Amino acid sequence: MKVLITYISQTGNTEKIASAIHNEASKNHEVQSKQLKDISAADLAAYDFIFIGSPLHGGNLAAPVKEFLGSIKSGKGKKIAGFITHAADAYPDQDMDKFSEPIKAACKDSGMVYKGCFDCQGFLTEALHEMIKKSQNLTDEQWAARVAQMTGHPNAEDLQKAKTFTQTMLAQ
Ligand SMILES: Cc1cc2nc3c(=O)[nH]c(=O)nc-3n(C[C@H](O)[C@H](O)[C@H](O)COP(=O)(O)O)c2cc1C
Repeated sequence: MKVLITYISQTGNTEKIASAIHNEASKNHEVQSKQLKDISAADLAAYDFIFIGSPLHGGNLAAPVKEFLGSIKSGKGKKIAGFITHAADAYPDQDMDKFSEPIKAACKDSGMVYKGCFDCQGFLTEALHEMIKKSQNLTDEQWAARVAQMTGHPNAEDLQKAKTFTQTMLAQ
């Protein structure tokens, strides 16, 4: 299959997952990775399977990712899967369903088939630490525990899970 991995990543977390998916998919498929800003919906015509990645921004896919998904007009016979990184350690399934809704909606509009969505934690950029600590009214101690918990993500285990996800997606 011809596989496209496209994503947005401001601080490198989502890009790490893109890279793990690329390495795994390349074992058996022809794979290209491109930042979302470098492609248009028309470029999808050249691929059979699309992985689309985004950081979570305000409880949603990043705005340019949602915009791109909304611009896909035709995709019959293609398959698509999402991958998301977020600073929270985990989200319940119903939240993940909500986050992946724009991908499912794009499938309804274009005829693509939705295959699934991977998510994992990604370290929050330090530029936002003070703001989040204040907005959640956390003590220094509570915030230090949060930072310690998210440090290093996506970690080796997250990357291994992304590889397993890739195998599952491409086997179907
Ligand atoms: C503007 C903004 C909004 C964010 N909103 C959320 C959020 O709602 N929930 C969450 O868990 N993380 C949130 N984050 C954290 C990022 O989703 C997380 O650090 C992600 O791994 C960043 O990915 P990147 O390095 O590929 O840009 C937000 C980050 C930014 C910059």
